[in-house]
Amino acid sequence: MATVLLTGGAGFIGSHTCLVLLEAGHRVVVVDDFSNGSPEALRRVSELAGLEGWRQLAPDRWVAGDGQPALLTLLKGDVRSPRDLDRAFEDREAMGDGGIDAVLHFAGLKAVGESMGQPLRYWDVNVVGAVRLLEAMGRHGCQTLVFSSSATLYGITDRVPIPETAPLQPINPYGYTKAAVERMLADVAASTAGWRIALLRYFNPVGAHPSGRIGEDPNGVPNNLFPFLCQVAAGRRQRLEVFGGDWPTADGTGVRDYLHVMDLAEGHGRALETLQAAPPQLLTLNLGSGRGHSVLELVRSFEATNGLTLPYAVVERRPGDSAISVADPREAERHMGWRTRRSLADICRDGWAWQSANPEGYRGSDRQPGRSLIQVQPVS
Ligand code: UFG
Repeated sequence: MATVLLTGGAGFIGSHTCLVLLEAGHRVVVVDDFSNGSPEALRRVSELAGLEGWRQLAPDRWVAGDGQPALLTLLKGDVRSPRDLDRAFEDREAMGDGGIDAVLHFAGLKAVGESMGQPLRYWDVNVVGAVRLLEAMGRHGCQTLVFSSSATLYGITDRVPIPETAPLQPINPYGYTKAAVERMLADVAASTAGWRIALLRYFNPVGAHPSGRIGEDPNGVPNNLFPFLCQVAAGRRQRLEVFGGDWPTADGTGVRDYLHVMDLAEGHGRALETLQAAPPQLLTLNLGSGRGHSVLELVRSFEATNGLTLPYAVVERRPGDSAISVADPREAERHMGWRTRRSLADICRDGWAWQSANPEGYRGSDRQPGRSLIQVQPVS
């Protein structure tokens, strides 16, 4: 069993990974500022993992799992704050006398369009946040890190599929910040012996846990295809706009490598195990299925799987998009024996199970009459 710190662990990918890690028997400490995540997500994770006794012990601290130390600890905190990070690394109640064995760094901003209007915010949260985290890891003697990187680093490329050795040519501030952190981590790994680092370049993570209890809960209008399509299915949005019908693809719509978030979460579990079992190294791995699906294929699969009709209209291309983005995932299989197991139909079924049961995401559950999420217990 390892004690693992998840920054951004209350978000979409972090919460699913938290569940996978708890189910594998690890102890988890989460730091999240709730800018795009919710304590409710982790309350549900604790339920799905079969942990007893989810409770709020302070305005910014929750725990679950009987016994000392707790199996899951959630702290409200900002990755740019050395104080918040030290608090997580030093939470004796969360980890007993041992320390944090490894960090999975999910916390960050991820909207491409927003990054073009607010570049400083992206550099601050994504890059300064990573610097502060690495400094904190240095202070606390932790040298194992899994970093959420992105296929956005490959920019617009004609290569199909894309191997990890493809040139990095990000085209927006979000992509530049991911490239900068990857570079920084390579420098850190080269500077001092002992680092175990995995840079995981995600393709298009979608879907939800099959229970429908946890899933993606975007703030405002979703930027990405899958959550938008789910909201159209739920009647929250009138129709889907398909960005471009004249791409050089089989049906003219953009092709992406969609991977089920549970496959991605399991990929993080494998990355952690692989880093811990092998000598210090820096691993750079694509996480994708290796299969491409067009926008219209996704729409048709969602309709067929869930017995629904999705209204859509083909409109202009979105600036900055590319025709095709598909992973070459063979390195991930070679290094850690991981590959995606779930299909596009699984993605559509599970994504809809989440959306239809939680039409307003986690916010809906705050408003259920007669039920309070927050029970502050005095700390004795
Ligand atoms: N699309 C539509 N309509 C929409 C939204 C998207 O037709 O309302 C199309 C896009 O043009 C594209 C496909 O659906 O062809 C997927 O678009 P997404 O916005 O869901 O995903 P992207 O591939 O553009 O980008 C995502 C993340 C990035 C990440 C990248 C990695 O948003 O952060 O995957 O490949 F870097």
